[in-house]
Amino acid sequence: MPEILKNFWVLEGLDGAGTTTQLKNLEKYLDDKGTKVFRTAEPTVYETGRFIRKVLGGEIKVPQSTIAYLFAADRDNHINNPEYGIKTHLEAGEIVISDRYFFSSFAYQSIGFDGETVKMLNSRFPYPEFVLYVDTPVEDCISRIEGRGNEKEIYEKFDYQVKVRDNYESIFSTLPTGCTLIRVDGRLTREEIFKTLVRELGI
Ligand code: TYD
Repeated sequence: MPEILKNFWVLEGLDGAGTTTQLKNLEKYLDDKGTKVFRTAEPTVYETGRFIRKVLGGEIKVPQSTIAYLFAADRDNHINNPEYGIKTHLEAGEIVISDRYFFSSFAYQSIGFDGETVKMLNSRFPYPEFVLYVDTPVEDCISRIEGRGNEKEIYEKFDYQVKVRDNYESIFSTLPTGCTLIRVDGRLTREEIFKTLVRELGI
């Protein structure tokens, strides 16, 4: 049986799906209710994650295989670091919500690199209790990314995002019992998406 971490929730979606906004809203909502929350993300804010950001921005160039290993290393530290890792926060009684987790590696890294190896690299990580998937059509995501006006990251292209979306579907069809998928229509307004998440989570 795969390990499932209670009170660990993750948000997933295509680039531009708006997961970061929803995470901030959830944090505030729970905080206002007096629930302790640790809001986090992958790539992380730690050194490993900062290195990955440079790769995503095109500043450092490495093979696709290396990117898969980097994400797995960043994730291992994110989960297991005894000082600030996810397990440590959970043991302190907090709810941990992460903007992306290993589902992103399956969805993104399987495209440029061997999917079986990506699976293997991520096979030891525990599952979260909930996966909150903001399901948005690729067209909408791309127009939001373009609306931001920033330099695009390496994965922010139409054809790539189509594959990412398909990969998410295949991963979500194999979740173990105890890891629940909450799918929200990303075409709804931010407020509607948030309300749906709160309702489905029963918080
Ligand atoms: P994200 O922080 O959601 O994007 P931004 O802050 O630029 O809006 O994610 C950064 C990118 O990293 C995104 O394109 C997805 C990608 N990613 C992977 O390819 N594999 C992974 O395992 C993770 C966690 C993210």
